[in-house]
Amino acid sequence: MQTILVANPKGGSGKTTLTTNLAAYLAWQNQRVIIWDLDRQKSSLDWLKLRPAELPSIVSLDATRDEIDPEIPENVDWLLLDSPAGMHGKNLAHALKFADKVIVPVQPSVFDMTATRDFLDRLVEEKTIRKHKTFISVIGMRVNPRTRAAVTLEQFLHQYDLPVLTYLRDSMTYVNAAFTGRSIFDLPHYQNERDLEQWQPLIDWVK
Ligand SMILES: Nc1ncnc2c1ncn2[C@@H]1O[C@H](COP(=O)(O)OP(=O)(O)O)[C@@H](O)[C@H]1O
Ligand SMILES: [Mg+2]
Repeated sequence: MQTILVANPKGGSGKTTLTTNLAAYLAWQNQRVIIWDLDRQKSSLDWLKLRPAELPSIVSLDATRDEIDPEIPENVDWLLLDSPAGMHGKNLAHALKFADKVIVPVQPSVFDMTATRDFLDRLVEEKTIRKHKTFISVIGMRVNPRTRAAVTLEQFLHQYDLPVLTYLRDSMTYVNAAFTGRSIFDLPHYQNERDLEQWQPLIDWVK
């Protein structure tokens, strides 16, 4: 089993969007996927409840957010941890203990970048401990590459030696799909080729 933590202490940065879409992608690959929603708002679980039964199934982990040894069903291939805003200190350390990889969605606004600073410091420390360069992946969220905003984000991340793995554009496809418990991977592909293309680097990295 591989465990992926999706984290950024800034609310609204795109954690749940990334978690749910990645879960659906993996489920379409015949992988057994389980989501552990650490957020009290339970947005990932709300999305799961809306998910039509005929789509590849994703299950939720029945465990509280501070469970030390949650009981994970057998034969799970992927455990995805969706995390809450403001997660730091003990809670972050707890979540990191489970993670093989961490995905960090960041929006290129001054508010988002500033709010992410301490968190990135902590992650870089963890990266050094693990001596594992590809353990963290930063996703530029709701931004197009080669824009001024993207360059600003890259400059900000340069100090952490963290490149932006891919950019996911601002697209109502994500929002509309979520209304019915779907991801961009559950829609006819001709509707969102550009989004699927943007996901490819993340998919390659996860695998
Ligand atoms: N790439 C995107 N394009 C358009 N809307 C997005 C995108 N990513 C996230 N959103 C929207 O932004 C809001 C916050 O995203 P969410 O994934 O809930 O963030 P978090 O879980 O970090 O709080 C949601 O309404 C979501 O639908
Ligand atoms: Mg969320």
